[in-house]
Amino acid sequence: MTSPIRTERHGEILVIVSDNQPVNALSAAVRQGLEAAIKEGVADASIEAMVIRCDGRTFFAGADITEFTKPPVDPLLPQVVDMIEASDKPVVAAIHGTALGGGCEVALGCHYRIAVPSAKLGTPEVKLGLLPGAGGTQRLPRVAGIKLALEMTAKGDPIPAKRAHEAGLVDRLAGEGSLEAEAIAFAREVKAARPIPRASEKPVADDPAAVETFKRENGRRFRGFDAPAANIACIEKAASGASFADGITFERQEFMRLMMGVQSAAQRHIFFAERQASKIDDVPAETSLREIKRVGVIGAGTMGGGISMNFLSAGIPVTIVEMQQDALDRGTGTMRKNYEATAAKGRMTATQVEAAMGALTPTLNFDDLGECDLIIEAVYENMDVKKDIFTRLDKIAKPGAILASNTSYLDIDEIAAVTSRPQDVVGMHFFSPANVMKLLEVVRGAKTAGDVLATVMALAKKIRKVAVVAGVTYGFIGNRMLIPRQTEATKLLLEGATPEQIDRVHVAFGMPMGPFQMADLAGVDIGWHRDPTRIENIRDALAAENRWGQKTKAGFYDYDDKRTPSNSARVAEIIDEFRKREGVTPREISDEEIVARTLYTMVNEGALILEEGKAQRASDIDVVWIYGYGWPVYRGGPMFWAQTEGLAKVVAGLEAHGFPVAKSLKDAVGAGGRLK
Ligand code: 3HC
Repeated sequence: MTSPIRTERHGEILVIVSDNQPVNALSAAVRQGLEAAIKEGVADASIEAMVIRCDGRTFFAGADITEFTKPPVDPLLPQVVDMIEASDKPVVAAIHGTALGGGCEVALGCHYRIAVPSAKLGTPEVKLGLLPGAGGTQRLPRVAGIKLALEMTAKGDPIPAKRAHEAGLVDRLAGEGSLEAEAIAFAREVKAARPIPRASEKPVADDPAAVETFKRENGRRFRGFDAPAANIACIEKAASGASFADGITFERQEFMRLMMGVQSAAQRHIFFAERQASKIDDVPAETSLREIKRVGVIGAGTMGGGISMNFLSAGIPVTIVEMQQDALDRGTGTMRKNYEATAAKGRMTATQVEAAMGALTPTLNFDDLGECDLIIEAVYENMDVKKDIFTRLDKIAKPGAILASNTSYLDIDEIAAVTSRPQDVVGMHFFSPANVMKLLEVVRGAKTAGDVLATVMALAKKIRKVAVVAGVTYGFIGNRMLIPRQTEATKLLLEGATPEQIDRVHVAFGMPMGPFQMADLAGVDIGWHRDPTRIENIRDALAAENRWGQKTKAGFYDYDDKRTPSNSARVAEIIDEFRKREGVTPREISDEEIVARTLYTMVNEGALILEEGKAQRASDIDVVWIYGYGWPVYRGGPMFWAQTEGLAKVVAGLEAHGFPVAKSLKDAVGAGGRLK
């Protein structure tokens, strides 16, 4: 097999080039090639300095994550980085694209770094539940300082080359089109400079307060995660004056601990699950896409406005339609306010706000949608209203336009059937707030065309969403799984639990909020029959008393003017009255029972969704829950979590509480505890 590493001689400079597409991951072959190339440069008396650069779209984007579950192959990355650094001839890293993780560590092993302004450098290992394990935690603070090293390792967000340059992580910026030439020139300049600057030999600049301040400021953000604390501990080690060698020993030990843990396995699972989700089993990757130059949105309410903002932010013009001028004005006003709030936080410039709003065409004329290539209906959940809209759309939309509904529950096939072009109809289920939440459920109708699906999936990527394909089923993937959870949570109240107890179990599990906190946020009255005399469950009893959640300052909790919740004596009374009415004597409910009945039941529903072919793969379900509902990523989504919990335990828990268990779950127990 030919090596992905080649060397090119430019007089006394040896240029080492990696070509391991798509992202130049540091696979075993790359590491072996790098080792051989460095040896070649060191041994050759005619070579005075070296440059390492990559072909394709990026500098090394990290270790090869696919190798993490396989037996290690020499040379390991830390050895390669040490070897580069030990070279007695200067080595220059020439960086474009993204120097991430192990890629950033290779750059840190080099003696000099030159980058194009569009490049980014980062140590995102923490997002995989890991830490930079090739010396990065010890070299980075020595080169870029404690503060930046904490930011980069514990948060994992890459920084632009310009900032890296200011921090000393990049020595020089190059022109976008002349990286290689400038890197060679740089190597010529420094070829005779001695001593060679080695990151491991630099002292750590003292910054005693930095670690404590960083921990204090970010405690909430890191709640539940193991890896940020391990990253911080490694930087702290460097800051404490430990020798480089001691720091490396500590880094290795922490890296291995994280690598063996469940959290990293879960986070790596999600990295690949997210990428896998965009692939549709029976739609070839090379399917030609429909061109989307203008998007139409029907409805300027919270959803319609949020949906529009996604496209406007990506530079795609939007025509937004409402029935009344005041509703239209309110909707566009909210969009502007949201953009301005983003600008106030420094995440957008005033020019960008105007560009986004300038690409919006608000109108009361439905026929204006005729010029759109994709039209998304975002009105309230009512089948008759939706059918009426799609009947009208069928008459005015241009041939080939994609007609989408943002319904969260309703049958896409029934909607498509009112048109003469069901092949062009698809569900695009955004999650609220639609301009923020990353998930998009793409609902595939019985007749939805392959190129419509492929186009919507590609568009989702463009507007920075994570798209998952769902089949037509009530609530699709996410909301369908929410149903057993909410039903069981409400039953548990009747049987003896409190809203506080159930929410506490969910928050301790890592969810951003529990079922009742979520009900209060979304509105206890959602889906309510609006008859205060008809009390069929505890939710009805609350709704009948105008306890509709945060918006009425009373729901399952009481709220003050700042929406701070407190436990409600009245809710306790309502629950008690309802129990008496139903003749239920409350009993002690254990946290384990709450887990079994509100979380195992979700897993069971997920398994049914898979059996019915309404999701393509178990990992898609995990992606839905992570990006749509805030399931803790370190637990890898409900289906992954069930496997770490033990499918036998999940099945036993379901059976103990009398739930009919999905066949595929039972079968998977027999087949070694793995779901397909
Ligand atoms: N290892 C193996 N495969 C990788 C990979 C990696 N580090 N990074 C990306 N890939 C694969 C993806 O799975 C995808 O495969 P597919 O086409 O079969 O689905 C393909 O490369 C392209 O990736 P993206 O779709 O993500 O391409 P983008 O252009 O959108 O993004 C990127 C490129 C920013 C580099 C992004 O892929 C990324 O963030 N990669 C991961 C970076 C990372 O986490 N690096 C640290 C690794 S851990 C490490 O280095 C440990 C060390 O400290 C010892």
